[in-house]
Amino acid sequence: MQRGLPQKRGIRDVRKVVAVSSAKGGVGKSTIAVNLALSFARNGHRTGILDADIFGPSIPTLLNLSGEPRLSSNNQLVPLSNYGVKSMSMGYLIPEASPVAWRGLMVMKALQQLLHEVDWGGLDILVLDLPPGTGDVQLTITQQVNLDGAIIISTPQDLSLKDAIKGVNLFQKVSVPLLGLVSNMSAFICPACSSSHPIFGSPAHISEMCREHQLRLLGEIPLHPSICEDADRGKPTVVAEPESERAKKFEEIATAVGKLVGL
Ligand SMILES: Nc1ncnc2c1ncn2[C@@H]1O[C@H](COP(=O)(O)OP(=O)(O)OP(=O)(O)O)[C@@H](O)[C@H]1O
Ligand SMILES: [Mg+2]
Repeated sequence: MQRGLPQKRGIRDVRKVVAVSSAKGGVGKSTIAVNLALSFARNGHRTGILDADIFGPSIPTLLNLSGEPRLSSNNQLVPLSNYGVKSMSMGYLIPEASPVAWRGLMVMKALQQLLHEVDWGGLDILVLDLPPGTGDVQLTITQQVNLDGAIIISTPQDLSLKDAIKGVNLFQKVSVPLLGLVSNMSAFICPACSSSHPIFGSPAHISEMCREHQLRLLGEIPLHPSICEDADRGKPTVVAEPESERAKKFEEIATAVGKLVGL
């Protein structure tokens, strides 16, 4: 009998898998994951996004999608698509306002289904939107899935950076390549006068942390009201205002990530 951890395996029909992560909640993982996925799609890559947040799925809202997925002839979940990106989320499988009140085993079962029972139909890249923390879901994904890399999201605040370091250590421990860090809400850009205010602390905190942990700084996304509004109305910035400076920042990060994983 084979012992130890299960072997890592790829996700069927998917060339590259990239996880967007942070041990801290609410720092913009889902917002950045979806805008990166949309940027990959705009660059002509067949793209999917997998919402690995079982308790608080965000992708249905961010992509303005709902409804139960169909099953394919081989009993696999068929992803729902919008703006050229395929997606799968626990949010499609349970009614919107129902809380998922599950213990570990049920969560693991749902995660297995999301990871291995979706008919992606051929993707160049799949973005994984991870839940906050360094618990069961993160461990299962890092130990079972062949990840091409992880992107860490943090604000420049010390409180957030401390948690980001936990995420960095987790990926290092399980030998997942760290592609770099995205500094989110790096500064507030006043929509009236375009002046920049570092609400969550100096950008120097981020560069210091990157230096210390030998992390690449992939880019800085400003704190801007329209990033939040675009997300809420289910039309993320990259598709809502593709010509904006903000959308261009997402595009630049996606291009850098694409190069790093050999897309
Ligand atoms: N750069 C930004 N500018 C303005 N608002 C932002 C920005 N990034 C994220 N937000 C907003 O911050 C909130 C949290 O973002 P999001 O849900 O993406 O974070 P998260 O890290 O995925 O959270 P969770 O840990 O709960 O999964 C949302 O309301 C989102 O619209
Ligand atoms: Mg999220």
